[in-house]
Amino acid sequence: MNINGRPWRTIGLEEGGASVWVIDQTLLPHRFETRSLASLEAAADAITTMVVRGAPLIGVTGAYGLMLALQVDPSDGALEAAFERLNATRPTAVNLRWALERVRQRVAPLPEAERAAAARQEAGAIAEEDVAMCAAIGEHGLELFRTLAAARPAERQGQPLNVLTHCNAGWLATVDWGTALAPIYKAHRAGLPIHVWVDETRPRNQGASLTAFELGREGVPHTVIVDNAGGHLMQHGQVDAVIVGTDRTTRRGDVCNKIGTYLKALAAHDNGVPFYVALPASTIDWTLDDGVAEIPIEARSAREVTHIQGLLSPDQIGAVQLTPEDSTGFNPAFDVTPARLVTALITERGVAAASEAGLRGLYGR
Ligand code: MRU
Repeated sequence: MNINGRPWRTIGLEEGGASVWVIDQTLLPHRFETRSLASLEAAADAITTMVVRGAPLIGVTGAYGLMLALQVDPSDGALEAAFERLNATRPTAVNLRWALERVRQRVAPLPEAERAAAARQEAGAIAEEDVAMCAAIGEHGLELFRTLAAARPAERQGQPLNVLTHCNAGWLATVDWGTALAPIYKAHRAGLPIHVWVDETRPRNQGASLTAFELGREGVPHTVIVDNAGGHLMQHGQVDAVIVGTDRTTRRGDVCNKIGTYLKALAAHDNGVPFYVALPASTIDWTLDDGVAEIPIEARSAREVTHIQGLLSPDQIGAVQLTPEDSTGFNPAFDVTPARLVTALITERGVAAASEAGLRGLYGR
């Protein structure tokens, strides 16, 4: 997608192919900088500190992390240690484990001398497939948006379709296009008038800082709102649809996503607003049924709650304290929306009911 008219992806190989560049998302929207990842530790640290984040991009970064480890030591022991190190960086998004397993399966049968090159090739393939899957999600979501727009009453025809999104499930969370934002970009480029309500998404503010940034660079009309405003807007007919991404979706369609997603789904249900979840196949965890009981929820530092990051002066990004010195904070990073609150899943293979039958209908497994 575009930044100041120049097309970008979120990750790529540096010249020579022995290291990887990523966009440092901790500095956005105030500064745009790339960072080089040249070792396993650098890749693991980039995932933990959210230099890169978003389920699909975490997976691709993990895959390249295995390549970086194998360049130094291609032994079985080093492969296993790197797998465990990367897999532990962020526990909720299942794309990470999926991508690591894919690279491990590809390289494990090979002679040690061939492993790093094979890991590079597999990580590249995962990245390319992610782009294709997100573009396809965009096309299927666009059709859904066209149907929603056409079904509105005569007096609202031609007005922008108002879509609310939570967190960042745009191209910054993937390699390109995004999941939840892909249909929005496709709609905007196809000339379907669209306006996005952007939840700020405390505590890390991925909506206010990342979603707003990328929509702005693509010229998509949007308005940032506090997380608590969505229910009010839905009650007053100002939201035509909610669309979010997901970090892990169970085989029966329970959706784990950024903390606060569940509350948006409840408000949407109460107000008859369709609630869509966009995801590639790599986000489905076929081993799990009950998302609330079975998905591990990452608890992040309480400092993300007690402090907030922003621009302190034109050239200084920093954090300020919000809470009393002696107050503690608690920071569960994700929640689970039960399948019954999800109107439909939008995947690269098409749109399905959030149910085991719906997912099996698409994936035949
Ligand atoms: O903690 P983050 O920023 O990695 O969380 C990201 C989200 O919750 C996204 O909405 C999710 O990964 C779907 S991304 C395409």
